[in-house]
Amino acid sequence: MLDDRNWVKACDAKKVGREDVARWDHSGRSFAIFRTADDQYYATDDICTHEYAHISDGFVEGTTVECPRHAGCFDFRTGEALNPPVCVNLRTFPVKVVDGAVYIDIDER
Ligand code: FES
Repeated sequence: MLDDRNWVKACDAKKVGREDVARWDHSGRSFAIFRTADDQYYATDDICTHEYAHISDGFVEGTTVECPRHAGCFDFRTGEALNPPVCVNLRTFPVKVVDGAVYIDIDER
């Protein structure tokens, strides 16, 4: 199916464990790719909006990720900042899985 998105292949879908997160670096940027217990995939910026920490080093529970540095939490489906010290949402990106590979629209605003 044709669409106008800038899909970029990020990784094999199996690289992301269930209820886990994986880091993907591309063009000088870092993305966090999440997989839920029912195999839904999501992507966000990998750098916390509070200070400098990789979200992909954090702890995933359900649809929440806890930053490894100061324990701020985000809903990785929407990027919503859920508790202090984080108060700025994470940027999110459209994701699709085709033939066992994860694609991200890295230009989404
Ligand atoms: S750097 Fe993420 S909560 Fe502080």
